[in-house]
Amino acid sequence: MKVLVIGAGNMGLTYATGMSKSKILKKHNIMVLDKSEKTLKKIDKIAHFDAMDKLEDCVPLADIIFVAVKPFHAEELFQRMKPLVNSNQMIVSIMAGVTIEFIKNSLGIDKIVRAMPNLPAQVGKGLTSYVSSEEVSYLELILVEELLNTTGKSIRVKEEKFIDASTGISGSGPAYVFYFMESMMEAARQMGFSDRVSKVLVSQTFSGAIELFNQSNISPDDWMDKVASKGGTTRAALDSMHTNKVNLLIKDAAFAAFNRAVELGEEY
Ligand SMILES: NC(=O)c1ccc[n+]([C@@H]2O[C@H](COP(=O)([O-])OP(=O)(O)OC[C@H]3O[C@@H](n4cnc5c(N)ncnc54)[C@H](OP(=O)(O)O)[C@@H]3O)[C@@H](O)[C@H]2O)c1
Repeated sequence: MKVLVIGAGNMGLTYATGMSKSKILKKHNIMVLDKSEKTLKKIDKIAHFDAMDKLEDCVPLADIIFVAVKPFHAEELFQRMKPLVNSNQMIVSIMAGVTIEFIKNSLGIDKIVRAMPNLPAQVGKGLTSYVSSEEVSYLELILVEELLNTTGKSIRVKEEKFIDASTGISGSGPAYVFYFMESMMEAARQMGFSDRVSKVLVSQTFSGAIELFNQSNISPDDWMDKVASKGGTTRAALDSMHTNKVNLLIKDAAFAAFNRAVELGEEY
């Protein structure tokens, strides 16, 4: 089986690297195509993949084609791909907002998977939600899931609207965590800690809390109750967040991302 990744940017290279490390595919069964010469030279040095510079040389050879270019490049790319694809091939698109219907209509083929990864995929801790057209068989879905899982975990959703919804939670979510971290680091600096110490205080607190959460069956609410005793310091902080309705603000932010994903999807 041969996989082609089109677009060797942050995400395309992340998937190509994940797949090559996983050993699901044999050597020389991963082709990576990019339009930039500089990027192709970089890929050639990595040597896990075959670097390609012409669609004609690689699209017809691929069983699965990952499309990892920016959404605004999709239309032009699909026009050039259309004469080269065939109905046995499967497209896995990670482009935000580009719908299955748009891909089907542009390429004239039916086996389409639309996936939404997130940034931690770069360190093997990503979350990719995905949905497929009904022409993709169960066995093909298992294979795609294995490939997606080379960058972390994946979740299959039944309708495309859940791809937009997961954009609001996991897709854009790492930035919400960074926002929270930055705010806590700022507070630490104002309390007199150095940049270095502020970073350690905050990053270890985040990773420790997440580890606790992952290793238990306890909900975040119950964990809050466990750490916050009446009249204590943590309760003072949680009361302040409650008074300021921080939870509602976070929900609003997630819905802003969700709504923007829906809007972008209307363009395709
Ligand atoms: N980054 C994320 O966290 C994230 C999360 C979820 C989804 N996504 C989706 O992932 C996709 C890729 O994002 P990215 O951040 O990896 O973008 P990126 O770093 O800009 O990578 C895209 C690469 O594709 C190349 N390219 C553009 N048109 C091409 C063509 N016709 N043929 C071959 N290569 C072409 C670009 O070259 P040039 O730079 O020369 O144009 C660039 O090297 C986007 O659609 C985005 O919506 C990204």
